[in-house]
Amino acid sequence: MSTDAPTPPAVPPATPPATPSATPSGTGRDAVRAAIGVGREVQAAIYRRGVFGHRPVVPVEPEALEARARRRMSPQAWSYVDGGAGQQRTARANREAFGKHRIVPRMLVDVEHRDTSVELFGRRLPAPLLLAPIGVLEMAHRDAEHAVARAARALGLPMVLSTQGSVPMEEVAADLGDSPRWFQLYWSKDDALVDSFVARAEASGCEAIVVTLDTHVLGWRTHDLDLAYLPFARGEGIAQYTSDPRFRSLAEERAAAGPRATGPAEEPSPRPTPAAVRSLLSMARHYPGSLRENLRSPVPRAAVETFLDVFSRSSLTWADLDDLRARTRLPILLKGLQDPRDAALALEHGVDGIIVSNHGGRQVDNAIASLDALPGVVSEVDGRVPVLFDSGVRSGADVFTALALGADAVLLGRPWVYGLALGGDAGVRAVLEHVWAELDLTMALAGVATVDAITRDLLA
Ligand SMILES: Cc1cc2nc3c(=O)[nH]c(=O)nc-3n(C[C@H](O)[C@H](O)[C@H](O)COP(=O)(O)O)c2cc1C
Repeated sequence: MSTDAPTPPAVPPATPPATPSATPSGTGRDAVRAAIGVGREVQAAIYRRGVFGHRPVVPVEPEALEARARRRMSPQAWSYVDGGAGQQRTARANREAFGKHRIVPRMLVDVEHRDTSVELFGRRLPAPLLLAPIGVLEMAHRDAEHAVARAARALGLPMVLSTQGSVPMEEVAADLGDSPRWFQLYWSKDDALVDSFVARAEASGCEAIVVTLDTHVLGWRTHDLDLAYLPFARGEGIAQYTSDPRFRSLAEERAAAGPRATGPAEEPSPRPTPAAVRSLLSMARHYPGSLRENLRSPVPRAAVETFLDVFSRSSLTWADLDDLRARTRLPILLKGLQDPRDAALALEHGVDGIIVSNHGGRQVDNAIASLDALPGVVSEVDGRVPVLFDSGVRSGADVFTALALGADAVLLGRPWVYGLALGGDAGVRAVLEHVWAELDLTMALAGVATVDAITRDLLA
């Protein structure tokens, strides 16, 4: 007998789909998924396409995915997405930390029917997987959040909308329909803007507010610094701001105050180098309204300067969180915690959830790997609120490992951005399906049928 039993084709061979996604669509897909599980379904679809000579457009293997995305992206976009802080030690440590834990599979457990779903904040999710908030998605694909929302909706996985989005949250909400979404907040220096963002997120159907704490200033991102590249300085990734009435009134006031207020006083206006002209054009293109009028108006440039001024408040403390609690009825999660002492404070201040994250190693070089920080936070929280995890997750086996270390769900970051760069919505969807499928198959092979059963004793 063969030692490596092939997955039998689950459904009759069909004409290969035109998109990079490996999955058949619609109710047929749901029926297949219910019968054999997402893992075998996605796996079988890929092998079946192979019969027709097609390989996945979006590579399955994480390093191949990265390499192919790198070839597709501009050097600036690649640097911004892939780059971490300083010598990249935290980014590397995030990945390497997974290698310190090994899964020990159990045998002769009935895992014929598996359930990857979990419940979070009263909503059942089909998998313990969310799309991490990622800013400036237009760098990866011009459809940006529109494409990501279509993919998230097709799979029913929650999308966490970034404050640094390329598309106003109301438009993303329309793309998402009934599919779940949360809003990630960078706490602006302007409190009225914070109020406005939170109110817009509520009106856009967001089901939670994620306050990111680890990025009140940008980390020392050596790759971006060497390219002298900051997308926001060109008006990219500030769509939540330029679509906001409070922000626009700040930008208009600044523009009305004259040229000295438009840019930093000590700097001359950009000299008319080709790069400066491109930057001004980009600012004008990114501001709402007609390009022709924006090119003549001081407001788009004032908007960029206003953003750089109000972006985030380094004086934020726990007391401010109590204020936020009074401003919204939505669950509040804190993203970026690594220290159990901060987890204890978060509980004291009544937060509803914690996301253990170090921003993918983009903030503090030589910081603790996020996975190494997870068990301490889980033990401090002791089941009182959900603990989510991100930073370094590249595969379904990684998701399994984080769940075994006590995470209730996992946020996937860079990998789906690579999928976006390679294939728009179908590319994002393919990446999510690959990770989800591997999680399902890892559960099967490790002898667990439900996410609850992924426990620490399954790790060596
Ligand atoms: C290009 C890029 C942009 C990001 N933008 C945001 C953001 O706007 N808000 C936020 O809270 N986190 C942001 N993050 C951090 C992610 O939410 C997540 O913590 C990180 O990607 C996890 O690391 P990993 O991608 O290496 O797994 C960003 C990450 C990347 C790579």
